[in-house]
Amino acid sequence: MIAIGSDHGGFELKEKVIAHLKERGLEYKDFGTYEKKSCDYPVYGRAVAKSVASGESEKGIVICTTGLGISMTANKEKGIRCAVCADTVSAQLTRLHNDANVLSMGAGIIGENLAISIVDTFLDTEFSGDERHMRRIRLIEEE
Ligand code: RB5
Repeated sequence: MIAIGSDHGGFELKEKVIAHLKERGLEYKDFGTYEKKSCDYPVYGRAVAKSVASGESEKGIVICTTGLGISMTANKEKGIRCAVCADTVSAQLTRLHNDANVLSMGAGIIGENLAISIVDTFLDTEFSGDERHMRRIRLIEEE
């Protein structure tokens, strides 16, 4: 399952990403927000991150205006590696090298078509599993 959430700034793009996930036949859980009214991105970033960290969801997608605040929130959850991506190369490499489990995007930064390509790249790229990348991920997790 894919956990998805946004604040008001990411609401419209979230709806478009959800439509795309539906088209692809992928299971998802929408953690809100469910309207364009101003709200607080940490609420939604945290809900998505908790769903991924607990194993309820395999991956997460978070969206705010910049992709920044909501990614900062997601990354506070233990076990979450959330990457802000505004291009498909970053989406591919953060899966291959960092085994990122949450994708963050800025609805005020990128357009819908690019966002959908980023989502597909993120979801369809497997972690390389290379020892050097596993070692570095372990170092990220160190307290
Ligand atoms: C909301 O106006 C905006 O601050 C938020 O969507 C996000 O970009 C924060 O990082």
